[in-house]
Amino acid sequence: MEELFRQKIADRTLQVAVYGLGYVGLPLALEFAKKGYLVLGIDVNADKVAKLNAGENYIQDLDDAEVQKVVQQGYLRATTELTASKDADAIFICVPTPFTDHKDPDISYILQSAEAIARTLRPGQVVILKSTTFPGTTNDYVLPILNRSGLEVGKDYFLAFSPERIDPGNKKWTTANTPVVVGGVTPQCTELATLVQGVIVDTVVPVSSPRVAEMTKLLENIFRSVNIALVNELAQLCDRMGGINIWEVVEAAATKPFGYMPFYPGPGIGGHCILIDPYYLSWAARKYDFVTNFITLAAEVNESMPFYVRELIEREIARQPVSLAEAQILILGVAFKRDVDDLRHSPALKVIELLQSDQVRNITYYDPYIPEIQVDGQHYTSIPALTPAVLQQANVVVITTDHSNVDYQMVVDHSRAVIDTRNACKNTTGDKRHVLVLGGGQR
Ligand SMILES: NC(=O)c1ccc[n+]([C@@H]2O[C@H](COP(=O)([O-])OP(=O)(O)OC[C@H]3O[C@@H](n4cnc5c(N)ncnc54)[C@H](O)[C@@H]3O)[C@@H](O)[C@H]2O)c1
Repeated sequence: MEELFRQKIADRTLQVAVYGLGYVGLPLALEFAKKGYLVLGIDVNADKVAKLNAGENYIQDLDDAEVQKVVQQGYLRATTELTASKDADAIFICVPTPFTDHKDPDISYILQSAEAIARTLRPGQVVILKSTTFPGTTNDYVLPILNRSGLEVGKDYFLAFSPERIDPGNKKWTTANTPVVVGGVTPQCTELATLVQGVIVDTVVPVSSPRVAEMTKLLENIFRSVNIALVNELAQLCDRMGGINIWEVVEAAATKPFGYMPFYPGPGIGGHCILIDPYYLSWAARKYDFVTNFITLAAEVNESMPFYVRELIEREIARQPVSLAEAQILILGVAFKRDVDDLRHSPALKVIELLQSDQVRNITYYDPYIPEIQVDGQHYTSIPALTPAVLQQANVVVITTDHSNVDYQMVVDHSRAVIDTRNACKNTTGDKRHVLVLGGGQR
């Protein structure tokens, strides 16, 4: 089987199917298509499928011309037909893994994909799950579904877990140059999944099982969540103590060439990964009567940050001759992080929601990447352009996301009051007494 795969890779006859054409799936599909392999994208979203088949890119990090080219050349096409993976040699699952309202894992999208694949599973296919999930998902949930086909894993077909590490907005580390970890259900599953991914990734790191690979991904994201929580807590302590700026402290600590890695405070965490993934593990741990204290504590601190920002806003408004209800509050940046157009679980939305619940009537926002948002049933459109007049109108300007294409000098020069939760104004000059930096120790 390995020889056959090597042959198909060498002569470009390997066919690829990708379930889920989002932030993870489309870049992956594009990499294979660029290398001259036939790729079929499968997505339940008919709008994405139609766009892609028309050669239209909808993922910010990808190059429009590259997407158009592979579609025109016939290397990439998309369908909403969920059982369309039957001709593929390698099948990737890149569907969402959200949590429920009660923050329990929702792996229903993975299960739907597995059911669809099982219906047409044939000997020689390699299935690689890339969606982030809790240890045991591949073996205890996906494997039994695929086994219903009557085929035998490791002999007839192959199954592995290989977590995605893509970091949207990161220009340096891309799909191709970021190493990937692979854990197969059997050694041959690992070998074949390694071989397939080696087509588009420079370094593939095999591990002993899917569970190890699943836990590896969660460790990576929990590591970030815990360290961000630590610095968020210290930011609040610096504000309480006064006279110590956490941003300066982090930069100073980062000069240590070993044993330290800088993390930065902010208005909270968002996106589809760092916020959600830790809960997948704490849920899985419960079955073993185990409480994941670090995860719980980190979540508590990180999820308190929008409430802390609300407190800073309310303190600022209390200093001005205007009531909270009448105050004009301008939110700068609503994407969950800098220079991306991803709004999922953004802490800025939580800040807006809290202000709404405080009866603030005049909330506006500006985000060059996100033209409109919906918060708790209320619809907002972004201010079309950030101008001195727009800034002057606001009682307080709250920088929730530090997009790099915003003129922060103009923000400092023309705002009445600024709450900077990202230290975005650090390189600005002039009088900054009206700029309150989260964790700046200004009291
Ligand atoms: N976005 C990231 O930066 C990132 C990074 C690493 C890992 N991940 C993980 O990768 C997975 C995918 O995340 P994403 O950000 O690409 O999500 P996404 O929402 O951008 O894309 C998922 C796509 O799957 C489609 N889909 C849903 N159900 C489907 C089904 N049954 N069959 C086919 N398609 C279906 C959706 O329509 C959507 O287009 C998640 O598990 C996430 O945690 C994401």
